[in-house]
Amino acid sequence: MPDTAVWQIALDGPAASGKSSTAREVARRLGIRYLDTGAMYRAFMVALIRGGASWDTEEQVRPWLDPLGIRLEEGEHGTRVLLNGEDVSTAIRENRVSVMMAPVCAMPSVRARMVDLQRELGSQTSCVVDGRDIGTVVFPDARFKFFLSAELDERARRRQRELEARGQSASLAELREEIRLRDTLDSQRSVGPLKRAADARLLDTTHLDFEQQVQAIVDVVLADLKSPRP
Ligand code: CDP
Repeated sequence: MPDTAVWQIALDGPAASGKSSTAREVARRLGIRYLDTGAMYRAFMVALIRGGASWDTEEQVRPWLDPLGIRLEEGEHGTRVLLNGEDVSTAIRENRVSVMMAPVCAMPSVRARMVDLQRELGSQTSCVVDGRDIGTVVFPDARFKFFLSAELDERARRRQRELEARGQSASLAELREEIRLRDTLDSQRSVGPLKRAADARLLDTTHLDFEQQVQAIVDVVLADLKSPRP
């Protein structure tokens, strides 16, 4: 029997739309868990790179799915991503990882494995889950669904600031192109594409600051939680 006391907030959207920072803060304010599904795909990509794997075909990738060795730990300073016990939280954010991962994220066996794990983790306790296919595939019955968007130039600027804060650098033009390409590939794959669920609320964050976009979501959730359910 599904536990109806456990519910999800699905937060989907294109690259660098502010999903993960927003998701983390919304989760903190509501006192629920944050599940970063992008971090899981990123960690898998790092596993392939570090293991010297080839990822031209699904056959080459499949053996790396079991055992997966990925764990997410929520701490005071955000999610710690562990790969076979090693902290790869910084390594997964490198831009070269972002650039390389689209073909791997499109592989049906990779998605099936990740979706299984995400459903398992996201069903244990109420949580905010961010990604591309959360409201459509992973948790189609999520109690709340949002689709975050923002204009491409604004997303490139945000990603540049984020990289700079971590001591990494990339030109705006390079980031703009990388994000544009990744969105195209994410939207066009046949399994779990980036897509707004029909019942997701659209939140364009181009002209919102961080506090405003967090508050917009928290307001909707709190209003609903306070109203009696039929
Ligand atoms: O932070 P950013 O929005 O750039 O990316 P992310 O959420 O960390 O996700 C990195 C990549 O993982 C995306 O470009 C997708 O290709 C893939 N991903 C996915 O396929 N499905 C998800 N649920 C989450 C991420």
